[in-house]
Amino acid sequence: MEPDQMKKMAAEAAMAYVENGMIVGVGTGSTANHFIDLLAGVRSRIDGAVASSEASAQRLRDHGIAVLDLNAVGTLPLYVDGADEANPYRQLIKGGGGALTREKIAAAASEKFICIADESKLVDVLGRFPLPVEVIPMARGLVARELVKLGGQPILRQGFTTDNGHIILDVHNLEILEPITLETQLNQIPGVVTVGLFAQRPADVLLLGSGTGVKRVPM
Ligand code: 5RP
Repeated sequence: MEPDQMKKMAAEAAMAYVENGMIVGVGTGSTANHFIDLLAGVRSRIDGAVASSEASAQRLRDHGIAVLDLNAVGTLPLYVDGADEANPYRQLIKGGGGALTREKIAAAASEKFICIADESKLVDVLGRFPLPVEVIPMARGLVARELVKLGGQPILRQGFTTDNGHIILDVHNLEILEPITLETQLNQIPGVVTVGLFAQRPADVLLLGSGTGVKRVPM
């Protein structure tokens, strides 16, 4: 089965968490796009959505779904998003699409965070996927040197600016054995806006599309 079909299966499974009258937090990427397209089918029974990127906001609007400001909504009952990697503890690497900052805000503001992905994203140890770090442009060199001290190899994402006007350093060669500790350490480097490690606030549920159906973690 193609990975995209497995992503769609995971998105379909996430629809079971959408309740009448909800304002739904929506992530970014190809898996989240499947979820947005499915939300269009129930738009009359939800009160709107909060988007984690300009791209997702536009896709929601194109489907006639109201896009709301998180400040006006407060706590999100549900946030659904994809991931670049997930471990069995539901800790994630995110930011392959560059939307990590707003994704982390939405995840932190949510009561329930459902991560949807194809099963290839499940790993024992995070770090094979380069860890995205959003950085204030002036601090690029400083942050890169600190990342090297921690054993990583930061590479500037070429020609890319985030929705917030910042750059991204993709950090290669990290074997993330202690995700919460590393997230805390990286958050303390001046100039770091957001680290694409979602360990302090992991997903509550992973829904992984596979050739034999959707696997749920925890079962
Ligand atoms: C965007 C993300 C995405 O969730 C992540 O890159 C996964 O993308 P896809 O669903 O296309 O595989 O974090 O910033």
